[in-house]
Amino acid sequence: MSSGKTSSAADAGLTHLAVSLRSVTKTYDNGVMALGPFDLTVRKGEFISLLGPSGCGKSTVLRLIAELSAPSSGIVRVARHEGEVLPGHGIGFVFQEPTLMPWTSVRENVRLPLRLAGVPKAEARGRADAALASVGLADFADAFPRELSGGMKMRVSLARALVTDPDILLMDEPFAALDEITRFRLNNDLLALWRSLGKTVIFVTHSVFESVYLSQRVVVMTARPGRIQADIRIETVEPRGEAFRTSAAYSDYCRKVSAALAPSYSGQSTL
Ligand SMILES: Nc1ncnc2c1ncn2[C@@H]1O[C@H](COP(=O)(O)OP(=O)(O)O)[C@@H](O)[C@H]1O
Ligand SMILES: [Mg+2]
Repeated sequence: MSSGKTSSAADAGLTHLAVSLRSVTKTYDNGVMALGPFDLTVRKGEFISLLGPSGCGKSTVLRLIAELSAPSSGIVRVARHEGEVLPGHGIGFVFQEPTLMPWTSVRENVRLPLRLAGVPKAEARGRADAALASVGLADFADAFPRELSGGMKMRVSLARALVTDPDILLMDEPFAALDEITRFRLNNDLLALWRSLGKTVIFVTHSVFESVYLSQRVVVMTARPGRIQADIRIETVEPRGEAFRTSAAYSDYCRKVSAALAPSYSGQSTL
């Protein structure tokens, strides 16, 4: 098998694209073929969801884009600003677990990526506070993680991903562990942030409802090895809100996406 490639230098060829995966496969060292062949392009500023059953390779796709893992074959290209060549630079990653340091304040948690990048303390403090304000936590900078609800911890995790001002935000089932009301609120706040900040968002979920509510495109994956089963554009009046969530168009899209997902679940005995 030919060896895959991740392009990390400024890549003028991408122009309007944030991410391009071409014929990408990933086989882990233990022989598990997790992905592919997989082709995906994401435009700059687009909000897409990757939807698929557990184990189909969704997190693998995000790790390949973040250069935390290399493809076994095929090419992964990620748009960079001129001169940005550090691995992972320009990308923010939010995981399902907020993974906060319990021994220090919310502000220090958010400041961490800037500290690691050597940003001077006063500047980093200002940027951390601005990131916290953008997720509605301006008043909690001095709090400790244990004082926060699950939804607030996830907001801190989002602020930490935004504090470096990345162009691309990768979100791996970030709201899966939250109750429905909290999740709806975070969905709306994430959409507002996306509209105001203009970032590219690649959002992994296994909720049909969440994917349709949030994204401009829902990319449905097959069971492992993950390939693209369907790529469905969600067109509606923007900005989205509760009116969309309760509309006939929303239910129609959910039905269409569920139908595309159904074959991925058939024959799976491990769920
Ligand atoms: N580091 C790894 N080593 C071996 N197998 C892995 C590794 N990471 C993931 N896998 C396997 O690859 C498949 C896809 O994993 P993953 O991308 O995490 O799926 P998803 O996020 O869709 O649940 C799964 O079968 C998983 O067990
Ligand atoms: Mg996963």
